Amino acid sequence: MLIIKINILEKSQMKNILVKLVLISLSISGFYQTFSQTIPEEQISIRVDSVISLMTLEEKIGQLNQLSYGSGWGPTVKVQISSEYEEMIKLGEVGSFLNASGAELTHELQKMAVNESRMKIPLIFGLDVIHGFRTTFPVPIAEASTWEPNLVEKSASYQALEASSAGIHWTFSPMVDVARDPRWGRIVEGSGEDTYLGSLLSFARVKGYQGDLSNDNIISCAKHFAAYGGAEGGRDYNTVDISERTFRDIYLPPFKSAVDAGAETFMASFNEIGGIPSSGNKFLLTDILRKEWGFKGFVVSDWNSIGEMINHGFAENLKDAGRISINAGLDMDMESRAFTNHLFELVKENKVSEEVINESVRRILRIKFLLGLFDDPFKYCSKERETKNVMSEEVQNTALEVAKRSIVLLKNEESLLPLKKDLKKIAVIGPLADSKKDPLGAWSAFGNANDVVTVVEGLKKYVSNKTEILYSKGCEIEGESTDDFDDAIKIANESEVVILCLGERSDMTGEASNRSTLDIPGVQQKLVEEIYKTGKPIVVVLMNGRPLSIGWIDQNIPAIIEAWFLGIKSGDALAQVLFGDYNPSGKLPVTFPRTVGQVPIYYNHKNTGRPGNKRNHFTSQYLDLPLTPLYPFGYGLSYTKFDYSDLKLSNTKISDNEKLNISVKIKNTGDFDGEEVVQLFIRDLVASVTRPVKELKRFEKIFLKKDEEKVVNFVLSEEDLRFTGVDMKPVSEAGSFRVFVGTNSRDAIESEFELVK
Ligand code: BGC
Repeated sequence: MLIIKINILEKSQMKNILVKLVLISLSISGFYQTFSQTIPEEQISIRVDSVISLMTLEEKIGQLNQLSYGSGWGPTVKVQISSEYEEMIKLGEVGSFLNASGAELTHELQKMAVNESRMKIPLIFGLDVIHGFRTTFPVPIAEASTWEPNLVEKSASYQALEASSAGIHWTFSPMVDVARDPRWGRIVEGSGEDTYLGSLLSFARVKGYQGDLSNDNIISCAKHFAAYGGAEGGRDYNTVDISERTFRDIYLPPFKSAVDAGAETFMASFNEIGGIPSSGNKFLLTDILRKEWGFKGFVVSDWNSIGEMINHGFAENLKDAGRISINAGLDMDMESRAFTNHLFELVKENKVSEEVINESVRRILRIKFLLGLFDDPFKYCSKERETKNVMSEEVQNTALEVAKRSIVLLKNEESLLPLKKDLKKIAVIGPLADSKKDPLGAWSAFGNANDVVTVVEGLKKYVSNKTEILYSKGCEIEGESTDDFDDAIKIANESEVVILCLGERSDMTGEASNRSTLDIPGVQQKLVEEIYKTGKPIVVVLMNGRPLSIGWIDQNIPAIIEAWFLGIKSGDALAQVLFGDYNPSGKLPVTFPRTVGQVPIYYNHKNTGRPGNKRNHFTSQYLDLPLTPLYPFGYGLSYTKFDYSDLKLSNTKISDNEKLNISVKIKNTGDFDGEEVVQLFIRDLVASVTRPVKELKRFEKIFLKKDEEKVVNFVLSEEDLRFTGVDMKPVSEAGSFRVFVGTNSRDAIESEFELVK
């Protein structure tokens, strides 16, 4: 039975309210109850339109409003609904909450929306599930180091399972921003510097989260649209000014890939591009996203990004900002209240047409139907599912699987690693060795430090009972104190090997956490130099959210592991790698500069007219630095060795509709079974616009037993050779292409072919 309060009736100011009342009371329960996500789009669209025809303008605007609930989550958190929000829900003034989590709280809020608002439209609950809800998985840049789209998809699907069991319908993920500047703190949230790898992982994550949109899934949100990672100086929120060609060739493809995977929402970025802030960028939100790519979902702003257009100098006031945004194609306002406060007036003043608003409401209601929320608004808020799925063994096992496969071995001189499990004493030193909090990384949602297995704890689980693990913190991550150095040196001296865990605090990357240097913070560098003086074999384990410049460590320390932030299973994953239970297989998804002065440095740069050459002064180089990075994109070692040979091309020439088969033989010539990521790059030697010196086009991760060899096959076609041409349209051109196949973007064997037209 529908109950409408008198004051709402007055507010609605609708002339035909009586007619609609009858309509609603006759049909509402009927049409709301017959839906499920299996209903075809046309039918959803008919139903969406019938709902819209019953809505007041205020109610429509309410659907475009997203507010942050700001609650906690967990058994100890008491459900307390704020009276302001309660009133707004009942008046139909809010379409979505972010940060409201937990079966109980979301159930309460949903109950209010569907029982007490006039239109009974369910709310949609969003949250930043970036690398896990409660079970914290490795940070996205770590996951990218696996080079395993299938595994990344599996990880996203388990994250979705947990989140969806706690009332969440929607994650603000994947972040698919290409990042070429490690000073930028949000590099930790993405897949690194490469467009192709980033596009595959974007696709995988969207698929993983969304699955078939059952209640084990959540909808995804490709963000931040667009080129947010191109911020000048690596400073978050800063100006982006890149050419349309670079924008289309480098920054946009991972977003297009998200659309191809079926991403249901997009988030507009904070930044401007070429003078236009994304939240008011019609070219971006309408022309590219909807017209070129056929995106059907809705676009949410970033937090107050509509309001921030005032600071950009692009809107006079909030009302003006609201007008610009909605007309540009932005559908949902996260937290600026520009839409709720001003759209009604803007429509009355004919500055925004009601049809534009209807279109945005249509997109939002479509997704509420798709999720089955009209059918069963409470399908995501079941205490039973929450208890069963959150931190289940299955989810935790997957987190461990991803963690160990995310680890990148950077150096292993004289096969120091893997370590023997029956050493007498192992010294574990460093501010990250026993940190419970930092392995959670930035954006860990409801990750709990108590769940983290630290390196010290992990090692203890894996060594023999004859082995003693000695621990000393040595120093803090930041700060000047060297007071604990003596203790660290003492245990190093007593031990056969030292594991030195260095790096950054978890909050040194993530939103707004930019750094002007890539050095290891505090006195950690001094610590490693002191421990080095003991003459003991040292393994440095790095935990960080960005590439660090570790030149001294690379020169002096025999073994180095890049662990990023691995989530709750950190210690287990690292112990498995350190002792060889798992042979590391990760590869860097981003270049490691020698020092911050080389930034931006990325493998797919242009050649220039004067390519750097140390023997020729008048070339593109620094006087005081080598030309090369410390570790190139795609780099990562294994405990075994892989030999590449027999690079064969099926043809020396292909035409537009022919395929080129490329095969290469890989042999495991080392002493362990292991995995290798075989990488294929091309270079377009001459074109009507200059092309990068290398572009990743294919890769495959293979497993080879000791002494085993395998032929890996890749297929390329004309489509893979396209770029944005002079007229800004995709084009491929006749001419020669070089192919490189190898173990990273630097070390590869080569061949050549021609595209004929
Ligand atoms: C971030 C987004 C995030 C949003 C909601 C913003 O500050 O830029 O990535 O999804 O907050 O938490």
